Amino acid sequence: MDVSKVLKEALSELEKSNNDDSIQSLRVKYLGKKGLITDLLKSLKDLSVEDKKKFGASVNLAKEELLKKINTHSLEINKKNINEKLSKESIDITFPPPISQLGKLHPISKTYKEVIDIFGNMGFSVAEGPDIETDFNNFTALNIPEDHPAREMQDTFYLNEKDELDKPFVLRTHTSPVQIRTMMNTKPPIKIIAPGRTYRCDSDSTHSPMFHQVEGLLINEDANMGHLKGNLINFCKDFFHINDLKVRFRPSYFPFTEPSAEMDIAYSIVDNKIKLGEGDKWLEILGCGMVNPKVIENCKMDSSKFQGYAFGLGLDRITMLKHGLTDIRSFFNGNNNWLKANGFSLGRI
Ligand code: PHE
Repeated sequence: MDVSKVLKEALSELEKSNNDDSIQSLRVKYLGKKGLITDLLKSLKDLSVEDKKKFGASVNLAKEELLKKINTHSLEINKKNINEKLSKESIDITFPPPISQLGKLHPISKTYKEVIDIFGNMGFSVAEGPDIETDFNNFTALNIPEDHPAREMQDTFYLNEKDELDKPFVLRTHTSPVQIRTMMNTKPPIKIIAPGRTYRCDSDSTHSPMFHQVEGLLINEDANMGHLKGNLINFCKDFFHINDLKVRFRPSYFPFTEPSAEMDIAYSIVDNKIKLGEGDKWLEILGCGMVNPKVIENCKMDSSKFQGYAFGLGLDRITMLKHGLTDIRSFFNGNNNWLKANGFSLGRI
């Protein structure tokens, strides 16, 4: 049998094969157990030692060459077929995805929306301020002068650029500067909330360098601590869906409120889980108080005529409490599986 003839035939058949199936049957026809080239190898046993060597070597070379060509041809054919398929298919990127593939709403986004809804129903409108603030708005106007110890507690990130008072810009440490921006630009009565991102040099399972707060500010001529407490209690009942929520207000200190308080909600541990609203343990959720007259004056308003209250609430903290989440960092590491498990369907908000 002529080796080169068999090889030539095989190669010309290969040339004509244009899909996986025909290449596969060609491989079987020539190189399979009963294949033509395999047969040639089998016929070696009838030859003389001398001929075995010569013929054997040429059959092996032919086998190798065919194998190599089959592999490259198969790769080329696959590539060609894929390219042809791609050029025929087009994707309509404006086509809406099936409902089952819709994304999830991040728990913080859900809280954002709920907080705005609840305070919106109480008559608060939404104000906004930038993440990059002046030293004046973030500290000085809020009665936190330079060298005040409260600055140490709110250590933050400073930028190289300086503002018009020659102080470096800061990433705001709380949403309270929005109080200043609003009071400087609006005449009372003022009734706003300001949700947004805030920053501090803190990082562990309950603190993240970037976190979220919502500020509240009400200024009129007769606001008092009772109004503040009533609104905050109503907010918490609504947000946590607990009607007889047990809360307490503890005296506290903030340079920009006087008197100041912190609000705690009661909880207990049942079956290793936090049960909110009752029990003898307390969780702090916000700071609040009557706006310090000094702050009202700093904003060029008459503190003998106007008074009001303010509060600042940690959005990440109340989200963790509401949904039983334990590590604040999981909010921000962008893990899609986590979001699938803890996110909310867009239809249910
Ligand atoms: N800005 C305060 C903080 O971040 C919270 C607060 C806001 C307290 C408004 C009182 C009034 O800790």
